[in-house]
Amino acid sequence: MIAMSHQKPLSSSLRIVITGTGTGVGKTFVSTELLGILTEAGLKCLGLKPIETGFTEPDRSDAEALARGARHPRLTPAFTSPVPESPHRAARRAEVALDGQKVADWVALQTAAAAPDAVVVESAGGLFTPVGDSVLNVDLVRALEPCTFVLVVPDRLGALNDALCSVTAARAVHRAPDLLCMNLLDEGSVGLENTRELSRLGTLPPVIQAPLLRFNAARDVVRLFHHLRQ
Ligand SMILES: Nc1ncnc2c1ncn2[C@@H]1O[C@H](COP(=O)(O)OP(=O)(O)OP(=O)(O)O)[C@@H](O)[C@H]1O
Ligand SMILES: [Mg+2]
Repeated sequence: MIAMSHQKPLSSSLRIVITGTGTGVGKTFVSTELLGILTEAGLKCLGLKPIETGFTEPDRSDAEALARGARHPRLTPAFTSPVPESPHRAARRAEVALDGQKVADWVALQTAAAAPDAVVVESAGGLFTPVGDSVLNVDLVRALEPCTFVLVVPDRLGALNDALCSVTAARAVHRAPDLLCMNLLDEGSVGLENTRELSRLGTLPPVIQAPLLRFNAARDVVRLFHHLRQ
């Protein structure tokens, strides 16, 4: 159960940027679950993947999963590449310059067209993955302000280190996550109680556990995101 003091209706300005400690950590899983919860709560949602590499089968892409979570047709990313590699390499080969402004402009365009209550934007790769020769995903978070910035951490042995490293590095570039999401990929890690241990440290952003609906009531998730936006 997540303790929140009050709740007001969500407004149209809710933008949630989901990144993670790396690739394959459950960003799409958490984003899709969150979109489903917000949609079920009556919010019109938009699920966006501005940059997607390894994009070979559109029906099995992250863009498709996010669209399904938010119940709208797939929105083709601003930049795609069939090769599963770092966005900055794919962009360099395609002779495309990816930067925060380009991503923010695309997100703003999609948002203006759909007029949603909530937008969930999933990054390509982890928080410090390069998307351009001098642009990292953390720069995209800043380009998408104002936003609620969620860092997904795979909940397993070593997760405390992963979470602390990422938050420390994010603080060093002056954009700490607003929320850590510990994603339980493997049932065997449940006994580590990583979410509880991180919460006990006291110096970190709030920590939530995924799968969201397994560990939290849907209404608490909605209230949490409302609270973080303020
Ligand atoms: N909590 C979970 N329980 C079970 N399976 C999960 C969970 N989280 C993620 N997975 C599975 O793990 C795999 C990787 O997850 P996902 O695609 O969400 O990662 P990602 O961070 O979005 O990866 P990418 O960097 O490629 O975008 C997927 O097959 C997904 O279904
Ligand atoms: Mg993904």
